[in-house]
Amino acid sequence: MRILHVASEIYPLVKTGGLADVVAALPPALVKRGLDARVLVPGLPGILKGMSDLKPLTRIGPAFGAAVVTLLSGRLPDSGVQAYVIDAPFLYRREGNPYVGPDGHDWSDNHRRFALLGWVAAHIASGELDPDWQPDVVHAHDWHTGLVPVYMAQNPGMKAATVFTVHNLAFRGIFSLDCHAELGLPTRKLTPHGIEFHGKLSFMKAGLVYSNRITTVSPTYAREIRTPEFGCGLEGVLRDRGVDLSGILNGVDYEIWNPDDPAIAQSYSTDNLDGKIACKSALQRELGLSDKAIGPLFAVVSRLTSQKGMDLLLAALPDLLREGAQLAVLGTGEGDLEAGFQYAASANPENVAVHIGYDETMSHRFMAGADIFLVPSRFEPCGLTQLYALRYGTLPLVRRVGGLADTVVDATAENLQADCATGFVFNDAVRQALGARIREACILYHDKATWQKVQRRAMVQDYSWDDSAANYEALYRSL
Ligand code: ADP
Ligand code: GLC
Repeated sequence: MRILHVASEIYPLVKTGGLADVVAALPPALVKRGLDARVLVPGLPGILKGMSDLKPLTRIGPAFGAAVVTLLSGRLPDSGVQAYVIDAPFLYRREGNPYVGPDGHDWSDNHRRFALLGWVAAHIASGELDPDWQPDVVHAHDWHTGLVPVYMAQNPGMKAATVFTVHNLAFRGIFSLDCHAELGLPTRKLTPHGIEFHGKLSFMKAGLVYSNRITTVSPTYAREIRTPEFGCGLEGVLRDRGVDLSGILNGVDYEIWNPDDPAIAQSYSTDNLDGKIACKSALQRELGLSDKAIGPLFAVVSRLTSQKGMDLLLAALPDLLREGAQLAVLGTGEGDLEAGFQYAASANPENVAVHIGYDETMSHRFMAGADIFLVPSRFEPCGLTQLYALRYGTLPLVRRVGGLADTVVDATAENLQADCATGFVFNDAVRQALGARIREACILYHDKATWQKVQRRAMVQDYSWDDSAANYEALYRSL
């Protein structure tokens, strides 16, 4: 079975979040199961630089405002998975964030940049661009690829089926309705039953309406997005497509995320946790934190946004400090949140450290060095960092939403008794609830025997890609 994954970012070449990790890890997991999985990505500078054996395959010609468009083929680093890359210098050869220009605003031609991605996918699916390969299923990820099923439907001879995965419904890919002509979208599709969304055009909605199956990245989020609280105005569409919508949990690439990775000070395992103590000391030294704190070291590696509940954390910081605990933050995001954390660090230099920036290697040192990993999200489709934290014996403290609810077992008295607890969970997105769970986690931290038992249980949880890949394969076969 031949599967084409289509996405806008892929680790380690271009990454702004968990999407890149998933798109890098799922195709090789499918290949391991005997499927022929390939990827299609835009020719962003990081992708053109990082791919091996990149060769021109087909000259596509002018499209979507780009005079020169060439389809290249090559292999992804590490996994060696076969990849198609769209080289359209005018649209894609821009350094920095793939979606946003240096002025902090979305690129004004994003509709054309991502329409091209969907349009090329549809033509590969038609067998027009690679005479030697045609997919049975095209699997498109997030709003950037929402037009894939729309363009595919324009070819009456199309045999390939489509799967569309929602990684984050909050980004709906909204553009002016006037764009439709430039994008070659038929006017009959510009209705509320099609891709029109409150007088605009939504790429996300296009993916939801026109794909054969919809998945999202956890079972709980698949239920949540059918409600107004989490549906971002698309809950009606998602309810209509109810039978075709399912949740498949993301996995973790344990080759990259495990406590003997080369980035950390000393490796460790469930048999010997000494290395974790060395990692904590090293992280405290690196960040200039005191080594005298009596409480645990909490860590955050995240986009600093309200989705991630970072305002709640700032509000609950006094509760954390009152317990003699410490906080280390690695992230970038909304200006006021960055400033809030920086202020907190300058006011408590011994116990709060903040690194504003994106640093993959440093994120591994945070995972290994911290005692508790915070993910207090307002909504969380899956969340990967709590899964990484589990493997490092860094107990996740999360809100009970989306994939966080599906992957962390709360250390209640009952769960501790039953030896199934792996972290801490709170319910309401309010400062008091987060503060209370932080306090309780600090208390448990002082019970070393119980703490280590929970750490060991966390470390043996298996969220590898094997199960998820098997679920995707079953879905493809059902099509
Ligand atoms: P989301 O995709 O919503 O941001 P996920 O938990 O799915 O959330 O994935 C986030 C990914 O980005 C993880 O791999 C995490 O380690 C990484 N990440 C986020 N912020 C940073 C940062 N400042 N530096 C390094 N890695 C980061
Ligand atoms: C999105 C979500 C995150 C998820 C990731 C990968 O960025 O916000 O929860 O883990 O996609 O699916």
